[in-house]
Amino acid sequence: METFTIKNKHLSISCLNYGAAMTSLIVKDKLGKEINVIYGFKDPKDYDHNTYYLGAAVGRIAGRIGGGGFTLNEVFYPLYNDNGVHLHGGTEGFSFRDWELEEITEGEQPEITLKRSSENMEDGYPGNLEVSVTYKLIDNKLSIRFTAESDQDTYVNFTNHNYYNLAGEGSILDQELYMDAASWQEKDEKNLATGKLLDVTNTPFDFRSPRNVGSHPDFKGIDDCFSLGDEEVSAGLYSPESGIEMKVYTNQAAVVVFTPETIDKKEYLNPDPGTYPAICFETQGFNNAPNKPEFPSILLKKGERYINESVYEFNIR
Ligand code: GAL
Repeated sequence: METFTIKNKHLSISCLNYGAAMTSLIVKDKLGKEINVIYGFKDPKDYDHNTYYLGAAVGRIAGRIGGGGFTLNEVFYPLYNDNGVHLHGGTEGFSFRDWELEEITEGEQPEITLKRSSENMEDGYPGNLEVSVTYKLIDNKLSIRFTAESDQDTYVNFTNHNYYNLAGEGSILDQELYMDAASWQEKDEKNLATGKLLDVTNTPFDFRSPRNVGSHPDFKGIDDCFSLGDEEVSAGLYSPESGIEMKVYTNQAAVVVFTPETIDKKEYLNPDPGTYPAICFETQGFNNAPNKPEFPSILLKKGERYINESVYEFNIR
């Protein structure tokens, strides 16, 4: 496995070619101390068994697909599934493959581009797919940009799976969360999106006014796909402890927010994670969209270009 690092005055990031996984994202706190605001394994070999998809690029379809696969242009494509659920592109998805370095640049706006060619029917998906991900630092912003092109109609939904903690340790329950989301996807007992959207009003999921992640009396963790509104900032997180604030901008329709109670018991670059150690902002299309025409489509037509561009901006307040 190879590690690549880029930095500018404000930020520094490292990633692996394996899974295009981001292993660190360093931001200065209110005292000027460097904080790694994502969880990354100390030993790159641990990414081989990355059950939580730490920092990884996830695809071809992030999230859960039900029904054992999908039908496209009247052909049923079975996908690897566990009890009818296909998760994060399958057991050998893009998070568990070597990507190739296309370009790495230095300077005030450095960037790393990794790419992968995925053959027709790889992991059960139709179309030869050319995929790239670019990590770029623009002043105090990290841009994560996925592109994909296929020689056949296909479905795609890539995302990045960073686990953020703006204090670099402790719990995110007392960090302040904002989400421009008035609804989220209803799930069945297998965590599959049913096709319905639920209103966040008077639920633990209403973060339209910023408040602490764990502040609602009925909070039991979040692992849900939220429908994004039209505000410029789609989501935000703030740690009073470090003074670091993150704003998320995206061209995607939804964000999966995930706050696991625990993550793998392995050695991390940061102090050992405790309970509710981190929060993911997986900007993407709606979960299970190929089987639920009620949701905006994630179809990528032959010859067209898929772009998921999400920007994470860091400030002190
Ligand atoms: C999230 C998903 C969770 C879990 C996690 C990986 O994107 O919503 O349910 O599978 O990835 O551990």
